[in-house]
Amino acid sequence: MTHARITLDRDFTIADVPTRLFGSFVEHMGRCVYTGIYEPGHPEADDQGYRKDVMALAKELGATVVRYPGGNFVSGYNWEDGVGPREDRPVRIDGAWHTIETNAFGLHEFVEWARRADMEVMEAINLGTRGVDEARALVEYANHPSGTYWSDLRRKNAAAMGTSEEPFGIKLWCLGNELDGPWQIGHKTAEEYGRLAQEAAKAMKLVDPDIELVAVGSSNRRMPTFGSWEHTVLTHAYEEVDYISMHAYYQEHDGDAASFLAEAVDMDGFIEGVVATVDAVKAAGKHSKQIDISFDEWNVWYQEGLDTEDQPDQVAKGWKTHPRLIEDRYSVTDAVVVGTLMHSLLRHGDRVRIANQAQLVNVIAPIRSEEGGPAWRQTIFWPFARIAELATGEILRLAVQADQVHTERYGNVDVVDAASTYDAEAGTVSIFVANRGLDEDAEVTLDLRGLTATEILRAEVLRIPDGGDRHTANDLQSQEAVGLVPLESVSIAEGGATLQISLPALSWAVVQVKVA
Ligand code: AHR
Repeated sequence: MTHARITLDRDFTIADVPTRLFGSFVEHMGRCVYTGIYEPGHPEADDQGYRKDVMALAKELGATVVRYPGGNFVSGYNWEDGVGPREDRPVRIDGAWHTIETNAFGLHEFVEWARRADMEVMEAINLGTRGVDEARALVEYANHPSGTYWSDLRRKNAAAMGTSEEPFGIKLWCLGNELDGPWQIGHKTAEEYGRLAQEAAKAMKLVDPDIELVAVGSSNRRMPTFGSWEHTVLTHAYEEVDYISMHAYYQEHDGDAASFLAEAVDMDGFIEGVVATVDAVKAAGKHSKQIDISFDEWNVWYQEGLDTEDQPDQVAKGWKTHPRLIEDRYSVTDAVVVGTLMHSLLRHGDRVRIANQAQLVNVIAPIRSEEGGPAWRQTIFWPFARIAELATGEILRLAVQADQVHTERYGNVDVVDAASTYDAEAGTVSIFVANRGLDEDAEVTLDLRGLTATEILRAEVLRIPDGGDRHTANDLQSQEAVGLVPLESVSIAEGGATLQISLPALSWAVVQVKVA
């Protein structure tokens, strides 16, 4: 048995919970769009061909904002190909994923899907092969009311589709994707990208001054240009943009589960490094506004081929329209890691104001679907859904004293990882907590300084199911092997001053209490 004492204080807050922290991502990649959210002819398809079963799961997941259409895909994409009568839309090669793009699904289809799913659209523009002119045309097409070439074309196309002719009102825009990466179509130096982002941003805001813009940051922390990229880009574009992006994917290497379970330590450090760089540019440039972070791609992704159904050796497979790509099958361990990554995002909610788990369906996703078949929740669905539902009000700064677990990559780390929110209006505290220990249960005392717990409203845990092990996953044959089950071992102690929580080895739990 290991032990931890977590102290919270209602007055020690980090920030309001950013609603956009619970974002997702739909890329034209593999089966995320085609046979994921969109499959005309499927028994569950609605009048526009959207899968109602996937839509229901997306709503249950609680994603608030959804990035589209890529990803690497966007850097070779012409948005005009995906609007207008379907029969006139060109079939194109998608070089990023060695795929045939039919363009049967495009901007209107996505905006309407997001409207039905009750999610905000976060639109990425192509700054790989394209530039300022296409960017401003797209903003005009999407957001200008009427009476101009592009806005009237939107109205005409919407009318033909039977959807609203009103402006899409897209507020959030990504100025390209991963342009620091040599793999990216239209890869650029920081100087080249910084100037282009600045000019595109300027032109886009001249069309619609109310939009918010995300500049591309480093594709990951290991990029040789990490740090200098952000510095150079923001030195050019600080005044024109509102956010800088971060991307990070994690996986278990060589069976080193302890280090994998501690990846939130890496995420914490990565975020703090980017914040330091951003603020250095702010100080040197004598800027008064603050640039925040859009962590617009994060997740567990087995890029090195562990526990993965399909890897993108696409060239060998030939040209296909919606091949299976990176349909990672997530385990109990992965779900615990995803929970802790979300704790890290919450802990930095004063600066990380947007975050998007990549991706929504099939492609490294919390939701899986089969063509003509069912849709189901992967293990990682659960921590996302509960945090999106129960993290409300203010994020609290926690003091954690915990037994240590040794990891190869991060040295000694707390065996327990947590985040918490306090909703003064609802009179509730939510605590999200993971036991990273692989072998021992953890006994956690939560000290609710300044508050008195009066009732346990929710207590659930994701753990290794009976007869399973840490690799157990949900799949087509066994769609509900791993889920949340009631957490029995939680009690109010010391007249409401503390909570006692026993966590099984390798588990993630949520407890919500009513407080006075
Ligand atoms: O999410 C999958 C891919 O990962 C995205 O297309 C790209 O931006 C990132 O490298």
